[in-house]
Amino acid sequence: MHQPAHPDVRLPGLAVSRLGERDLPALAELCAECSAFFEMVAGDCDPRREAEDILASLPPERTSREKHLFGFWRGTELVGAMDLGESYPGLHAWYVALFLLAPAIRQRGVGASLWAATESWIRMRGGTGVGLIVQRDNPRGRGFWETRGFTVTGETVQHVGDRVNQVWSMSRALVP
Ligand SMILES: CC(C)(COP(=O)(O)OP(=O)(O)OC[C@H]1O[C@@H](n2cnc3c(N)ncnc32)[C@H](O)[C@@H]1OP(=O)(O)O)[C@@H](O)C(=O)NCCC(=O)NCCS
Repeated sequence: MHQPAHPDVRLPGLAVSRLGERDLPALAELCAECSAFFEMVAGDCDPRREAEDILASLPPERTSREKHLFGFWRGTELVGAMDLGESYPGLHAWYVALFLLAPAIRQRGVGASLWAATESWIRMRGGTGVGLIVQRDNPRGRGFWETRGFTVTGETVQHVGDRVNQVWSMSRALVP
């Protein structure tokens, strides 16, 4: 079966692409706009460093073949990013390492639409489950994923530099 390279996003004026090194400046701009999110996670925000980390990060013991980093564009402006890990932690499991939209386009249903398209794309690629973590300081993030059918499966900690965040582990099964 033909497998499209990226989720089939059907939102007027929004395009999707895979992000690479050439997109570092645009990604750094998006990180700067989303500084409150990075401050919540890491205690501070250096937009360029965050963008470099997003481009380089891989799920543990995985290669770049299992990383799917998408950018969502309005013309030449990067307004969102989603970083997915394939086959992590298990064979048909997927992991959402990052889902971030520019503050100006939040709370309008864009995130819900993008996730719906992404979930279909993951199913098409044989994914049977999706997991992620949400910081306890981000209850709205938790609410977003709960509305998408995710449930909290546990609580754990996330180490970011010297910082230790309390996080919820969330997951959802994808029925074929
Ligand atoms: C989490 C995030 C990606 C969600 O994207 P979003 O576009 O804001 O989400 P949506 O607008 O689709 O949905 C959020 C809420 O907006 C409201 N909403 C949806 N459509 C709407 C519309 N047309 N008009 C007004 N409000 C609307 C709904 O109340 C929705 O709540 P629900 O989740 O209970 O359905 C985005 O808010 C973000 O980047 N947050 C910062 C980073 C983050 O927290 N990431 C996730 C944690 S890992």
